[in-house]
Amino acid sequence: MIPFVDFKTQYSNLKGEIDEAVHRVLDSGWYILGNEVKAFEQEFASYIGTKYCIGVASGTEAIALSLMALGIHPGDEVITTDITAYPTITAIAQSGAVPVLVDVHKEDGLIDVSKIEQYITPKTKAIVPVHLYGQSCDIDAIKLIADKHNLTIVEDCAQAAGAVYKEKKVGSIGSCAAFSFYPTKNLGAYGDGGAITTDSDEIYNQLIAMRNYGQTSRYTHDSIGINSRLDEMQAAILRVKLSHLDKDNNIRRNIAQKYKGELIGVETLSERSYGEGVYHLFVIKTDKRDQFMEYMEENGIKTLIHFPIPIHEQKAFVWKKDGEYTNAIEFADRIVSIPIYPELKDEQVEYIISTINNFDN
Ligand SMILES: Cc1ncc(COP(=O)(O)O)c(C=O)c1O
Repeated sequence: MIPFVDFKTQYSNLKGEIDEAVHRVLDSGWYILGNEVKAFEQEFASYIGTKYCIGVASGTEAIALSLMALGIHPGDEVITTDITAYPTITAIAQSGAVPVLVDVHKEDGLIDVSKIEQYITPKTKAIVPVHLYGQSCDIDAIKLIADKHNLTIVEDCAQAAGAVYKEKKVGSIGSCAAFSFYPTKNLGAYGDGGAITTDSDEIYNQLIAMRNYGQTSRYTHDSIGINSRLDEMQAAILRVKLSHLDKDNNIRRNIAQKYKGELIGVETLSERSYGEGVYHLFVIKTDKRDQFMEYMEENGIKTLIHFPIPIHEQKAFVWKKDGEYTNAIEFADRIVSIPIYPELKDEQVEYIISTINNFDN
């Protein structure tokens, strides 16, 4: 069976370095907000190209805390996309805001920037663009709209650690950017974790307090805050993983090139010329998705759908507003993700390609 992700092989390839990092933390006798978190924050900020990074407990809370630090209040509206992982919405709701959904491009599933302005109201305060599947949204175009309407931007970079937009890393462009270190991510921890990147001194100071019950100095609380801390163990593991991220992303890019070059008659997503993606997922499209997934399973290859239900169709999405989501509906109906990760061996990639090419599409 070719699994969709292969953590066992990943850990066994990195065992020496990871074990050393974990033991370093255990031996240190300090497990929350210590030297490892501090070092990781500096290393990740420098990798992304921002002044600051703040380690938090998850990607979801990275988005929620960013919005709160930017002054989003209950009842404000925050614009995002109809095709994303549901936690983007959870996070907006956690900040107290109302998520407002915009349709996507059917060629790549990214937010359709030309449709954003029609959803802006006096209550709109922020935009959360999602760099879906590891491909960057057109952030400059989004920034023009945000500046025109006095909105802030929180980039959702959960799937895009290392992706580039016009020479800059995603996560260095919005007022804040949120990363997830959920194990499946390109930069994955061995548990939950997340981070926020920003250039603003003010937002940084707020977030450092907010993630730690609003504490500004010991037993002094200037805001309510929450408990959302990246722990020392995950930070130490992430430092190891970060040192491999560029190499791993390049392996993903090479596998993607092979898929694009050798899959015959298969519809792949179009790619933006302004950026360099990191292929968190490799998504293809087919009108025979159920048969395709069954066929792949029979041939020992795991496939998944990211994401089968557009957000506006989720039962939990109670903030229904008038909106038109024809592209999202068609997109979600036809997409399927095939395995792509650095541990895939060449012969597995070849096998995946030949198996797909033998499918009667
Ligand atoms: C696009 C997107 N946003 C947000 C999240 C939330 O991250 P986490 O699972 O770390 O809370 C994820 C990951 O699941 C994601 O893929």
